Amino acid sequence: MDRAYDIVLVGATGFAGALTADYLARHVPEGCRWALAGRNVEGLGELRRRLAESVPSAAGVPLLHVDVHDPDSVRELARSTRVLATTVGPYTEHGLGTVAACADAGTDYVDLAGEPEFVDTAYIRSHARARETGARLVHACGFDSVPHDLGVQFTVEHLPKGVPLRVDGFVRTNAAFSGGTLASTLTALSRGAQTIRAARERRSVEPWPATRRISTPIGARFAPEVGAWALPLPTIDPQVVSRSAAALDSYGPDFRYRHYAAVRRLPIALGALAGVAGAATVAQLPAARRWISGRLAPGDGPSDRRRARSWFTVRFVGEGGGRRVYTEVSGGDPGYDETAKILGESALSLAFDELPALAGQLTPAVAMGPALRARLLRAGLRFRVVAQREV
Ligand SMILES: NC(=O)c1ccc[n+]([C@@H]2O[C@H](COP(=O)([O-])OP(=O)(O)OC[C@H]3O[C@@H](n4cnc5c(N)ncnc54)[C@H](OP(=O)(O)O)[C@@H]3O)[C@@H](O)[C@H]2O)c1
Repeated sequence: MDRAYDIVLVGATGFAGALTADYLARHVPEGCRWALAGRNVEGLGELRRRLAESVPSAAGVPLLHVDVHDPDSVRELARSTRVLATTVGPYTEHGLGTVAACADAGTDYVDLAGEPEFVDTAYIRSHARARETGARLVHACGFDSVPHDLGVQFTVEHLPKGVPLRVDGFVRTNAAFSGGTLASTLTALSRGAQTIRAARERRSVEPWPATRRISTPIGARFAPEVGAWALPLPTIDPQVVSRSAAALDSYGPDFRYRHYAAVRRLPIALGALAGVAGAATVAQLPAARRWISGRLAPGDGPSDRRRARSWFTVRFVGEGGGRRVYTEVSGGDPGYDETAKILGESALSLAFDELPALAGQLTPAVAMGPALRARLLRAGLRFRVVAQREV
């Protein structure tokens, strides 16, 4: 209560940020002290005016100036709030100062980062400091990686304890993406060497369970259990799941997670593989990167109508100790509507829920787990057991 705010959202003038601001305006509990922050206070004012048209109480939300590249303004902002949520990406370019400021100030932090290099570098630079101050630093609190991380945790809860467990996740969606996501994806794909270096450096300092095995192999196959082609999905999700498995003994002595995109028809599967390979190649060429980024600028994203038609399902098949369980997490537009909901609920969970007494860089499942799942269920995401049987 020594802080002026419970939650501050940074990046609200962007595409995902504006949706998150709208979600918070509609869902903060009575008495929650929250604010919008960014470098463009005029843009924030315009956003607040639009929010207040449908949620009158939003007219009183304070607007705070911050430029994430100005260390003094970020430090001041981090000290003013209990929880800082940020959608300022690409995080590799813009994010490390904000994480460090929160770690220093003992401020809880959530973001939408799906960039492994950023998350690993943030761990190397800020995890130890956050443990000293009590800050909880939780990355990837959007579609990347909450449905996957909490979905695996939910699946593990339905399997026997103390035995080797195998979980496969199959993602299906028809969604489109924003300029900010495109910029972050191209940035990540163009930085392969730096990403590998950051991962290696992290491995050299991060404690890892000595007596438990955790693996996340990559591969492609036809998966009869879901009737689809299973293609490797080059997202941060398996890394997040493996970190949850490392932190939580309930994942058993030998845990394997495989993360796939599920595609029903072979030509589409082959097209998707060619598309990923093409994007990875193009991302190496600065001129081509600029040309693609120019087609879909930061701030642009799928229209309300396009998002209203979007959906996702993640089907999990878990097995161990003679039992197989099929579970599913599903919802609407994954990249933005559900992402705004997930980021908003993550910030609210850190601010108001009774959570494990932990600090440092934590995954969503470790930091918030069942409390966040309960919030997301109330907010309309579905977590369900589809079937289970002895094998
Ligand atoms: N995890 C997931 O599932 C998921 C889903 C969706 C998006 N994302 C990620 O979320 C991020 C945002 O996406 P988006 O589409 O919302 O991007 P966007 O529309 O480009 O928004 C970026 C925001 O960052 C702000 N910003 C840029 N530089 C800044 C600075 N120096 N100081 C303060 N604010 C600054 C921009 O403010 P101005 O208005 O002043 O330019 C804008 O508000 C991307 O990294 C994307 O990959 C992740």
